[in-house]
Amino acid sequence: MRARLAISDSTGAGPVASERPKRESTLESIGISLSHDANRRTVNIELTEAAVLLFYLSGCAVLIGGLAVGCVVWQRAHAGEKCSCHWCSNTYRKRRSLGRGGFGEALLVVRCGRPYVLKNIGCSTVNAANQALLEAACLQRIQHPGVVRFEDVFLHRHDNGGCSVVIVMEFCAGGDLIDRIQCARGEMPLTEAQILHFLASLCRTLGHVHGCGILHRDLKSSNIFITRNDRSCKLGDFGLACSGLSRRRLTGSPRRHSRCGTDLYMSPEVENRRPYGASSDTYGLGCVLLEMLLQGQLRERRRFEERKEAIRSALDLARRKHGWQSMEELSGLAWKMLDDNPKNRIELPAAAATADACLAALQLPTHLLPVDVAASVAYTVSGSSSSDNAASVGRQDRAAQWRLRVPGRKTRYAD
Ligand SMILES: Nc1ncnc2c1ncn2[C@@H]1O[C@H](COP(=O)(O)OP(=O)(O)OP(=O)(O)O)[C@@H](O)[C@H]1O
Ligand SMILES: [Mg+2]
Ligand SMILES: [Zn+2]
Repeated sequence: MRARLAISDSTGAGPVASERPKRESTLESIGISLSHDANRRTVNIELTEAAVLLFYLSGCAVLIGGLAVGCVVWQRAHAGEKCSCHWCSNTYRKRRSLGRGGFGEALLVVRCGRPYVLKNIGCSTVNAANQALLEAACLQRIQHPGVVRFEDVFLHRHDNGGCSVVIVMEFCAGGDLIDRIQCARGEMPLTEAQILHFLASLCRTLGHVHGCGILHRDLKSSNIFITRNDRSCKLGDFGLACSGLSRRRLTGSPRRHSRCGTDLYMSPEVENRRPYGASSDTYGLGCVLLEMLLQGQLRERRRFEERKEAIRSALDLARRKHGWQSMEELSGLAWKMLDDNPKNRIELPAAAATADACLAALQLPTHLLPVDVAASVAYTVSGSSSSDNAASVGRQDRAAQWRLRVPGRKTRYAD
């Protein structure tokens, strides 16, 4: 087989007669023959099968060689680059793993004798890295006693060339609220006064967060942390937060965002991909209130079960569990926070005021108010039922139940 290529000779001039035999003999030795057709004013190049193969193989060799050289150059350029972040340089020493969330691992670390939480968020894309940095930026921006305190943020390079964003923040020794609610560490159950105190404080904190133009978008009990001896609760995990929102966007005319959050705590407008704003966080907080009243995690709704039905049965169960003085007010508040229509949902300052009023109505002596007392002491709240004591008996069972808990599915970006 011979490949033939005809190239038009635009000059019209043929090859110089004296050069022709020399050029043909050199090329012909590698299977290429050139001939000039003066009549048709074209130069014909004929390649033998061997010459075509030779060209093909030499092309491949050049490509492979180029890639190999590129790899060697890249490796040489990066071989000496070792990560010298605060983690690799042992600024923080690992104590233990606190758990693995949807986007990375949280570690308990120590620096200069002080405990911190180090959250390592692996980032495979630039967008993932930006979202992780946004979490750090939100924590840094908010600076509020009701929000987990920001300490540090840096990038850590993996051996395989990937990287993670590492956020260092305050360690809340009491763990997360869902574990505290379920007395996972064998604590006494939360009392009515503690629940009212936590609720009022969370409403005020969330109001402040919204005031900073930030939507949390993943409000749930496992993202709320308790400080030592139940002194206070702090909002954390801004991994899905959205920032830079105006007051109008947060309240008046909310805009359409991605559908994200955790299914169990998702407001109807988020679930149905309608525009949503600050009140969708209020809905999440309403679910947290239900869990505090239930003293357990909300169950997934059964198929075809209406939201209202699920709320009603949760509140009935809570009512049967305790004879708390403010149960009726708290049920009413839960309904207002969990209204299907975001426009009818209660405003956060009004919700905080209701919780404050209920706490004041308990008329606890000052030394028993949750703000001032270390809560390892079991509060003797007037009206608390015997189920509080009974609950402390089955701590082991609850701890087992806690280990089995199945949190709702988490959606980062569904659209
Ligand atoms: N500041 C903190 N203080 C104490 N414990 C913390 C703190 N931050 C996170 N944790 C704990 O670390 C663990 C992992 O937290 P992380 O937020 O990564 O995951 P998660 O909340 O379990 O899941 P998700 O990804 O759905 O939020 C959890 O058990 C959480 O209680
Ligand atoms: Mg979390
Ligand atoms: Zn590093």
